[in-house]
Order: sequence, then structure tokens, then C-alpha cells
Amino acid sequence: MARWSKISVVGAGQIGGSLAQRLAEADFAEELVVTDVVEGLPQGKALDIEESAPILEFSTKVWGSTDMKSIAGSDLVVLTAGLARKPGMSRSDLNAKNAVIIKSHAEAIRDYAPKAIVVVVTNPVDVMAWLVKKITGFPRERVIGESGTLDSARFRLFVAREVGVAPRDVVGFVMGSHGDTMVPILSHCSVNGMPLRQLVSEEKIASIVKRTKGGGGEIVALLKTGSAYYAPSASQFEMIRAIARNEHRLVTSSAYLDGEFGLKDLYLSVPTVLGSKGLERILPVELTADEKAQLEVSGKAVRTDIDILNSLPQ
Ligand code: LAC
Repeated sequence: MARWSKISVVGAGQIGGSLAQRLAEADFAEELVVTDVVEGLPQGKALDIEESAPILEFSTKVWGSTDMKSIAGSDLVVLTAGLARKPGMSRSDLNAKNAVIIKSHAEAIRDYAPKAIVVVVTNPVDVMAWLVKKITGFPRERVIGESGTLDSARFRLFVAREVGVAPRDVVGFVMGSHGDTMVPILSHCSVNGMPLRQLVSEEKIASIVKRTKGGGGEIVALLKTGSAYYAPSASQFEMIRAIARNEHRLVTSSAYLDGEFGLKDLYLSVPTVLGSKGLERILPVELTADEKAQLEVSGKAVRTDIDILNSLPQ
């Protein structure tokens, strides 16, 4: 596969910076552009990352800019710009403010990088991905939200620590919205094929589910000044690697649903296959009646946020 020409990371905050580092080190593209509205921030982080090239042996050119025109010709754009949560806030509390930021960036992507695959990270991510798809007019294959990979990583880690096995040995995923209504899928969780319920008590499972749902908030409460970025950027990296290398990986990402799981015209995390075209397909995994009901509740929560967005002055 030919190497990409350009990846753009929009937003040079904690997530944008740490993702840019991971992407540069992986050498996926000729160029990596980091943008931000704060003069000096993207240029400084980009140069700092690029100065590690001789040691870490990558050749990607890394540069920063405050001009969104610098994303022109990108094969992939990651949208991380926007406000992060502070203690006591829900992701939905960011809806109106981040929508203004995302709207202008989505217009820039439509105009300057019309062929790009877009990975949306800004919260509330399921709503922002919907907004990006609407504004760019891109097909759903090219607008994907990141959250399921992150929620699934947290879920798998907590299970691994409970069972006492390596985190990578836990197979499991979380569907639904990146919020309080997310749905850890217990019916398909296993330790390398051994069903979770044969290894962990119902009581412990309940506490793992609770901790997973509050996983982002747990970090916000500890950091106090912002939200998580190491595990989020690792999760985005997993998705982007699958696309860059055309791996056809099955990962959980926020995808535009058009009837799948009985839901329409909204984004939710579902099992997706990612490859060079972006979203290749959504896997119609079988869920229990309870999981289906929880997914419906999750869909309603995202729909409410989309309705709030639509009711704001445009
Ligand atoms: C989290 C934020 C980034 O879950 O949404 O950590």
C-alpha cells in the first residue's frame, strides 16, 4: 500500500499532541500537520515531536499551523479541537460550545480536504460526528467517531485486573453512546474464549460495568484540569492504524446508523470493520434483549443531544 501523503490533527491540546506523537512515530504519512487556533502551540508541539525523529527513526515531516488551509490534500483528518470536561460536567454539557468549533472545522475539511477520511474525537463525540457528516456531506464510510475503542479498552482492562490475566487476553467491547448510557456487552465478553460469567461473579461484573461507564469521569475527577488523553490517543491510533494499513480490523467505533440495530440517522458505537476506505462495514452482532433495550436508551440520549443542537440558532 502506498504511504499516505498527509495526516492532519486539528487541535493541539493534550489529545491532539499525544496522538500526533504516536502518528509521527508510526511513520504513516509523508507529512503530519497539527493545527490549533492558539498561535505558537501547534508549531511548538510539532517541532518538539519532529526533533525526536533522528532517535525514533521516523521520516514523517511534522509541522504546525493556525491556518486551516494547511490541511489541504489530507488523506485523513482527526478532529480533536474543542473544550474538554472539568469535574462535575457531563460530555453533553460541551454540546453547544463544541458544536460551534466543530462546524467551522467541518466546513474547512469539506472545502480543503474533500477526499479525507475524518476521525472525530471532540465530545460529545457521537453528536459531533453526526454534525461533521451533515456539514461535509461525506458518506458514512469517511466520517467515523472514536469512543467505542476507548470504552472497550477500559472495560477490558478492568476485567483483566479482576481475573488476573494480561489485558490483551480479554475480548470484549462496549457499544452505544460515549456517555452514561454506554453498553458494555457482557454476552460476548470472554477471556480468550472463556465466558466472563464463568470467571467473575455477578457482583464484580456489576462494579466493572459501573467503573467502565464512569471511566472518563474517573480521570477527570483525578486530573481536575481536563480529561484523559493517553488511552484516548491510543484508541484513536488503533483506528487510524487499521485504516492506514488496510487491516480490516474489527474495532468498536462510532458509526452512522442507517437502520442497523433498529436505529437510524444517528451515530453510536458499534462493531465496525476498518480498512483503507474507512468504515468498511458494520457487523450485525447478536445482542440479548436487555442489551438491545439498553442500546435503544443510548440512542435516545444521543437523539436528545442532536435535537438540542438543531434547536440552537444556526
Ligand atoms: C474520556 C473522554 C476523552 O472518555 O471522553 O476520557
